[in-house]
Amino acid sequence: MFKLIRDAYGIRSALYGGSFVHVTPSFFIPTVTYIDMDRRAARFFESGEAEAVVAANADYDESPTIRFLHQSYSDPFEIEPVDLLISQYGGFVSEACSQHIRPGGFLVANNSHGDAGVAECDPRLRLVGVLRRNGEIFRLAPATEFFVPKRATLPDDPAERARHLRSLGRGVGYTKTAFSYLFQKTEE
Ligand SMILES: C[S@@+](CC[C@H](N)C(=O)[O-])C[C@H]1O[C@@H](n2cnc3c(N)ncnc32)[C@H](O)[C@@H]1O
Repeated sequence: MFKLIRDAYGIRSALYGGSFVHVTPSFFIPTVTYIDMDRRAARFFESGEAEAVVAANADYDESPTIRFLHQSYSDPFEIEPVDLLISQYGGFVSEACSQHIRPGGFLVANNSHGDAGVAECDPRLRLVGVLRRNGEIFRLAPATEFFVPKRATLPDDPAERARHLRSLGRGVGYTKTAFSYLFQKTEE
């Protein structure tokens, strides 16, 4: 999935909120900042294991830059704006961290905790594609007719809709779903 997004959009840097020890993005993206509160994740990054795994798998020529922040992604931190924000099974990352996406950059989010649904309500973000998965094969597909609720009635107002989804803390059922959702941040 990360290779597909990198190749399609020239991604060079990323921020991964709630990463735990999932360093696969660094196999394809040269500069990645990982953030997690878990002490086991901190130990993993401190041990040098992340560098070793990435060095053995990096699919680019330059030296990987791997940074780990042991904190909540909701607390303030400093980072150069990134090409890609990653939100996978780690809570409401998009809400806390979309400010760190460069204008025209991207968010890839799944809906395990409802983060993709919340991102869909964010006026700064526009759904530009979805990631389909078949075993280990991923493909980028057009983004049509997603986020239509199956049963739930959601508020029409995007801010209220986001509040409602956050309060549920899980994704609602949609008529059409995908493995992950790709959003682009507006240019201004
Ligand atoms: C289910 S794991 C997913 C790990 C990884 N994203 C993956 O897909 O393999 C969720 C991770 O999110 C982290 N997490 C949840 N809320 C967080 C927050 N506010 N700040 C930093 N990390 C958080 C947890 O510590 C945990 O390691």
